Amino acid sequence: MDAERNTDSPWVDPATIPQRKLYTGATMPAVGLGTFGSDHVTPAQVAEAVKGAAAVGYRHFDCASVYGNERDVGASLEAIQEGGVRREDLWVTSKVWNDRHNDVVASCRQSLADLRLNYLDLYLVHWPFPNFHPPHCDVTSRSPDAKPYIHADYMKTWRQMEELVDMGLARHIGTSNMTIPKLKLVLCDARIKPAVNEMELHPHFQQPEFFQFVVENGIQPIGYCPIGSPGRPERDRTPEDTAPTEDPVIVEIARRHGVHPAAICIKWAVQRGQTPIPFSVNPRNYFANLQAAAVDPLTEEEMGEIAKVDRNCRLIKGQVFLWKDGQTWEDLWDVNGEITPP
Ligand SMILES: NC(=O)c1ccc[n+]([C@@H]2O[C@H](COP(=O)([O-])OP(=O)(O)OC[C@H]3O[C@@H](n4cnc5c(N)ncnc54)[C@H](OP(=O)(O)O)[C@@H]3O)[C@@H](O)[C@H]2O)c1
Repeated sequence: MDAERNTDSPWVDPATIPQRKLYTGATMPAVGLGTFGSDHVTPAQVAEAVKGAAAVGYRHFDCASVYGNERDVGASLEAIQEGGVRREDLWVTSKVWNDRHNDVVASCRQSLADLRLNYLDLYLVHWPFPNFHPPHCDVTSRSPDAKPYIHADYMKTWRQMEELVDMGLARHIGTSNMTIPKLKLVLCDARIKPAVNEMELHPHFQQPEFFQFVVENGIQPIGYCPIGSPGRPERDRTPEDTAPTEDPVIVEIARRHGVHPAAICIKWAVQRGQTPIPFSVNPRNYFANLQAAAVDPLTEEEMGEIAKVDRNCRLIKGQVFLWKDGQTWEDLWDVNGEITPP
């Protein structure tokens, strides 16, 4: 592909993108493209962005069956490989949705078929709650079958995740939307330890304690909503939410570097040690996000300034996963340091 490149097109050499080393020794590009269309970007637009992103140098793609676009993304992944990018140079993640916790192998096989791949680099348990709710449902919607986190049940799911590694269907497995007490239990009981934990991370939600716990346990943190998810669905918005790209400190640092505040969020994420997976279908924006990871790093002083703007502002609260009346979304996140009792 590189040989066929039009040298006038924007391009970041993938060799210049920082890499994360996983405990298995494998490497993962330290920035990836998100593929959740937030209910308003069509599968075709996302698939086009995946192709365009690979052409400018992206090699890491964050997918999930619930995003409803893996078949379209799969056609792009095939085209990218036909264009000369080797499979081993791509990093593709997918995730098992909440209604398939008892059917992980079949769910993974479906994602593999849709993505037109023989194996995934990473397969995640998308949420630790095995609750079905219909796509696009309102935050007030509750499933009558909703269940809290039950560790024994999660481990039954995790055993199937481990089987995927044994079968060669996934090179790595990981967790998502976890908390310290939940992850502690999984670390005690896992035969194959999670290689990655995907979590919300941006300058207004830095999760310092959880971030440190993940890193200290040899797990790579992947950060979702890295620029504060300005396009997230209405159901994921509350009046108290703040926007990191509007933070005066971020805006001022962006002015200094001559880039959009989004690029500062990406630089901060990569330099702090997490792997951001910004979503964009705009070629100028996804190129800028990739370039942000590769050139013109922030100074130590700027990193220090951003560390101070944390507002503990969780954007993806997960209200639809609440399992009984009278709860608040904080109950999903074990804010007292203990798993919220059933
Ligand atoms: N594990 C989980 O439970 C979970 C949860 C949420 C998200 N995720 C993953 O994380 C990915 C990223 O999260 P997200 O999509 O919610 O939020 P995000 O990446 O923080 O924000 C995406 C939004 O920012 C805009 N944008 C991107 N780059 C920009 C730039 N350089 N300048 C200005 N605007 C820019 C995009 O619009 P344009 O398209 O117009 O550029 C889009 O509306 C998802 O796509 C998904 O893969 C995982």
